[in-house]
Amino acid sequence: MEEERLIASGFTSDDMDIETSLRPRSLREYFGQEKVKDSLSIYINAALRRHDALDHILLYGPPGLGKTCLAGIVAAEMGQNIRITSGPAIDRAGDLASILVKLEPGDVLFIDEIHRLSHAVEEVLYSAMEDYEIDLMTGKGPTARSMRIALPKFTLVGATTRAGQLSAPLRDRFGIIFRLEMYSPEELCQIVSRSARILNVRAEYDGLLEIARRSRGTPRIANRMLKRVRDYAQVRGDGCITREIASEGLNMLDVDDLGLDRVDRTLLLTMIDKFGGGPVGLDTLAASTGEDAITIEDVYEPYLLQLGFLQRTPRGRVCTAAAYEHLHRIKPDVSEQNAEQTSMLEQN
Ligand SMILES: Nc1ncnc2c1ncn2[C@@H]1O[C@H](COP(=O)(O)OP(=O)(O)OP(=O)(O)O)[C@@H](O)[C@H]1O
Ligand SMILES: [Mg+2]
Repeated sequence: MEEERLIASGFTSDDMDIETSLRPRSLREYFGQEKVKDSLSIYINAALRRHDALDHILLYGPPGLGKTCLAGIVAAEMGQNIRITSGPAIDRAGDLASILVKLEPGDVLFIDEIHRLSHAVEEVLYSAMEDYEIDLMTGKGPTARSMRIALPKFTLVGATTRAGQLSAPLRDRFGIIFRLEMYSPEELCQIVSRSARILNVRAEYDGLLEIARRSRGTPRIANRMLKRVRDYAQVRGDGCITREIASEGLNMLDVDDLGLDRVDRTLLLTMIDKFGGGPVGLDTLAASTGEDAITIEDVYEPYLLQLGFLQRTPRGRVCTAAAYEHLHRIKPDVSEQNAEQTSMLEQN
């Protein structure tokens, strides 16, 4: 199940305790994402000088890359409070209105999974974002009246793993849009070094780098692996995370040296063995592996695409030569196949 998996880049209950203690609180503690940080600190400085609220910000990218963290940091750097909610939690337009009217000037309102807002709720958000006002309906039937309410100037920070599902009018109302990228092993190594210090875990640089290399560009996974490898080091070693300990610990958890787990391998092998390497449609792949299509798209594919193991084509997903090599399969030579077919045709 997704919940129990080490690779699951989504938030699991197990993360609760460590995520709170390991969450960076300032831009300085937030490693990587240099381009995003550079722009953000300019915008923040400028807004602070003008004594103005920051423009609305949209953060998008795969799960576990630090969107929620960054929202908190924006509020902290602005010296403002943050109100946190999410798309699925806001059922009706009235729910959003009651959140909005409680905002104080300069507050940061964080809406996670913002692509899941209903249309009616989105409509309220349009005027709130653009004009800092909302129209509230009071009363029912013939006595119903619309009342305009002015809101304080606030900053909306929206986060989503699926920017493609955001409606154009909503997307257009964000002045700042950042796409978070996967982290390099060196950046992840800085992140787990900091985490190891906070958790009081002894570790060698090579051990931390081994964890970083296998954590699929994702800080949440890196921190989770650190915790599991720490346990392994305590039981099988002297408590120190060395390269050997990290490597053995992660092998035992079925994570290979590129960070692929059983499901990644099943996906690729299904494509190779059952579909000749593709193209395979997402739904077909989901049906033949028993995995959920959205999970494949949001959780597994980003890293497989990043590794260059997978390509998306208009006709479906295709496995690349690099994937065949990593899984020790031989990629059929297309030109040889064609030649064979041609000679068969000629013989007939
Ligand atoms: N740049 C970073 N530097 C240090 N730690 C980070 C960074 N980004 C993320 N983390 C760590 O990873 C954890 C997960 O990050 P976060 O919850 O912000 O991800 P997310 O993008 O909001 O994920 P989701 O899409 O699942 O909501 C954080 O608690 C933090 O410990
Ligand atoms: Mg989040």
